[in-house]
Amino acid sequence: MNIDFSTANRIIFGAGELLTLRKIIDGKYGKRVLIIKGRKYPNPGTLFSICEDAKVKWTYFNVEQEPDIETINQAVRLGREKECEFVIGFGGGSVIDTGKAAAALLNNQGSLLDYLEVVGKGKPLKNPSKPYIAIPTTAGTGSEVTRNAVILVPDKKAKVSMRNAYLLPEVAIVDPELTYGIPRTITGVTGMDAFTQVIEPYVSRYSNSLVDIFCEDAIKKSASYLLRGWKDGSDYEARDNISWVSLMGGLALANAKLGAAHGLAGPIGGMFSAPHGAICAALLPSVMLVNAEALSIRGSHLEKLSRFKDIARWVTGKENANINEGIEWIASLCENMRIPRLSELGIKKEHFPTIIQKSKKSSSMRGNPIQLTGQEIEKILELSF
Ligand SMILES: [Fe+2]
Repeated sequence: MNIDFSTANRIIFGAGELLTLRKIIDGKYGKRVLIIKGRKYPNPGTLFSICEDAKVKWTYFNVEQEPDIETINQAVRLGREKECEFVIGFGGGSVIDTGKAAAALLNNQGSLLDYLEVVGKGKPLKNPSKPYIAIPTTAGTGSEVTRNAVILVPDKKAKVSMRNAYLLPEVAIVDPELTYGIPRTITGVTGMDAFTQVIEPYVSRYSNSLVDIFCEDAIKKSASYLLRGWKDGSDYEARDNISWVSLMGGLALANAKLGAAHGLAGPIGGMFSAPHGAICAALLPSVMLVNAEALSIRGSHLEKLSRFKDIARWVTGKENANINEGIEWIASLCENMRIPRLSELGIKKEHFPTIIQKSKKSSSMRGNPIQLTGQEIEKILELSF
């Protein structure tokens, strides 16, 4: 059993834990902070008063949408101009990722493109990032404990990662209370992103015993709480558990990679403005089906195949459930939460060849339990259409 596990330096989880920030920033990281946040949601009032109370001078930067190169550059310019000594990200995955990239570039020379995978030079960072405190306010990406930031490159119509161990935040504060006001449509798609992020690492070719523990727990909790939280936003027990699943997903994907759902969601997200979680959810059942078929046809993958059976048992609660029953259970969860199909997300069949070609270069595809053929990837897209 060989395991190499890394995560944020400190993880704090629990309803109301935002308030622990006061102690955390007390004289430890400096007197000037760059706060990266969403424009509308959530209300940063508590965050601002915590900073004032700790005598930390704040400057904020609003992230309006998924970050592109210009967004990151603007945040870095502001941080340099105000001589910020540390960074806080307070928002959804886009905000958390902007904070990661900005904290890294504030301490490193060169442009963002030097460090981007696929479309850039993919250089490693020389220096550690400025201390970064990630406070997610949605439950989905788990980005507060991962080492990559997803960035949109509009002229290449691509979404790519900046990836480095220095991107792991100094502190992750996961306070489910911050997600309590999120509307149903967002709860559904972000929750399905989290669910996909505990399924793909569990069957990944890089799966390991430590990550398995997180995935098993979080797959069972997803099955129990996703629909409950979607149906009733004031079901706080469900909300808390969905936040937990999101955190487990971050821990899992950062240490065992993902698979074809994310391998396809990357290029699709670069080409269309559909929400990441909706794309993952639309793809997940067909990715599982095609992977299970490929694993059973091409033998010698029995251990991986048995993991699909585990998932079927955990989600259905039936000890003898077969793989197809598990996949059908997940497909009906998507239907119940009214997750759109790929065709409803603006994707046309004529885009399939480009999506397939781009997906083969994506880093997530390398985690898929078996290397898929172009035809198999096309089948996934057809079945999710
Ligand atoms: Fe994801």
